[in-house]
Amino acid sequence: MNDQSKLWGGRFSQPTHILMEQFSQSVSFDHRLYKQDIAGSIAHARMLSRNGVISETEFNDIECGLNEILAEIERGDFQWSESMEDVHMNIEFALTQKIGEAGKKLHTGRSRNDQVATDVRLYLREELDVVGALLTLVQKALVELAAQHTDTIMPGFTHMQSAQPVTFGHHVLAWNEMFQRDYERLQDCRKRVNISPLGCAALAGTSYPVDREMTAKELEFDTVALNSLDAVSDRDFVIEFNAAGALVMMHLSRIAEELVLWSSPAFDFVDLGDQFCTGSSIMPQKKNPDVAEITRGKSGRVTGNLMSLLMIMKGQPLTYNRDNQEDKEPLFDTIDTMQLTLQIFAAMVPTIGVKTDNMLSAAAAGYSTATDLADYLVRKQIPFRDAHEIVGNVVAYAVEKRIDLPAVGLDQLKIFSAAIEEDVFRVLELQGSVESRNHIGGTAPDRVREAVDNARKLLDAREVYPV
Ligand code: ARG
Repeated sequence: MNDQSKLWGGRFSQPTHILMEQFSQSVSFDHRLYKQDIAGSIAHARMLSRNGVISETEFNDIECGLNEILAEIERGDFQWSESMEDVHMNIEFALTQKIGEAGKKLHTGRSRNDQVATDVRLYLREELDVVGALLTLVQKALVELAAQHTDTIMPGFTHMQSAQPVTFGHHVLAWNEMFQRDYERLQDCRKRVNISPLGCAALAGTSYPVDREMTAKELEFDTVALNSLDAVSDRDFVIEFNAAGALVMMHLSRIAEELVLWSSPAFDFVDLGDQFCTGSSIMPQKKNPDVAEITRGKSGRVTGNLMSLLMIMKGQPLTYNRDNQEDKEPLFDTIDTMQLTLQIFAAMVPTIGVKTDNMLSAAAAGYSTATDLADYLVRKQIPFRDAHEIVGNVVAYAVEKRIDLPAVGLDQLKIFSAAIEEDVFRVLELQGSVESRNHIGGTAPDRVREAVDNARKLLDAREVYPV
C-alpha cells in the first residue's frame, strides 16, 4: 500500500521506510480495544448528528457500519492490517470501505489522541471491575478458611523465628486485610480512570460544537476531563492501576512464599491440592508448589510493568507523544497476569489442607509462650525488664535440657523466681496464651470468630461485577 492511501497520507510524497510499518504498528496488540473504540465512535457520531455537524442519515450509516464491523470482529472475520497502524485506523478504514463518504466524517471534531485515551479508560474500567470481582473471590475463600481455623494454634513468627503462638485463622485473616486494602485502592483508582477525554481532540479541543457531557454520559463516564492538554496526554491512571496491581501481586507473592515454606517437609504445616502442584521428573518423592512459586515470579513481572510505565511517561512534554503507544503492552500484561493469578488462587485456597497437629507441636517446641511467662511475672509485681531476664534464663535452661517450657517443672522454675507458683502452667500452655490476647485485632479464638463475621458481612455487601 502506498502512503497516499494511509489515512494521514496527504502531506507525504515519499513512502515510509520498509521497517516503519513493523516498528510503528500497534494493531497487533491494541486490537483488544475494538469494543471500546466502536462504542466511543458511536457516541461521538451520535453527538455530532445531534449537534448538526453530520446528518442523521450519516449517523445511521456510521452506527450500522460500526455494528457490522463489531460483529465481524467477534466472529473472527475481520482482517486486521498492520499497514493501518492501529485499531482506530483499521476500524475507520473498514467503515469507509463499507459505507463510503459518511465514514470519512466520523473523525470530525476528534483525534486519535482523545480517541485512544477514551478507549484505554473504557477498557481499563471494565477490566478493573473484573479484577475487583476476582479479588473478592480470593478474599471470600480466605475468610472461609479462617472460619475453619479460629482455634487452630500455630507458631507466629518474627524474623522467621517462632515468636508467640497465634491462631491460624488469625494469620489467614491478616492476608484478608491486605487484600481488603488492595480492593479499596482499586476502587479509588477507578474514580480517576472513569473520566472522559472525548472531545478534547488532538490537544486544544475542537472548534466544532461538541457536547462532551453527552458522550461522557452515553459511555457511562462519571465526569469529563477538565483540561484538554492533560486529557490527551497523561497516562497516570494507567500507572496508578498498575501500582495498585503491583501491591496485589506483592501480597499474593508474600502469601505464596509462606505456602512454599509451610508445604515443605521442614515445616509440614499445609498440604496444597494435587491439582496445583507438580512432581519432579527425577525425584519421585517431590510435590512442588508451582502455583505459589510462579505467583512469586509473576509479581516481579507486574512490578516490572509498573517501572516500564513510569519510564515511558517521565520524559514526555505536554501533550500527546507517540511514546504513549508503549503503555498498552505493560498494561495488558498486568491485567492478564493479575486476573489469571487471582483466579487460580481463588481455586487453590479451598484445597489447602491444614496439618493442625504439626502446627501445634511446632508452636509448643518454639518456646513461644516465653512472653506469657514474662507477663505472668509482671502481674506478680516484677518489673518487665527483670521478668524478661528471668525468662531468658528459664529458656536457656530449657534449651540446654532440650525440653519445652511447661516441662521445666515448678521446683526448677521457683529457683529462677520465687514469685512463680502453680498457676504458671495455665500461661505456659498455648491455649491460655492465645486466649489471653483478647482485644480488637488480637489472636484469641473469640476475637477471630468475631473478625470472620465482620469480614463476611463486608464481603457479602460488596457489589461485584459478574465473573
Ligand atoms: N496507536 C496510538 C497510541 O496508542 C494512537 C494515537 C496515535 N496518535 C497520533 N497522533 N499518532 O497512542
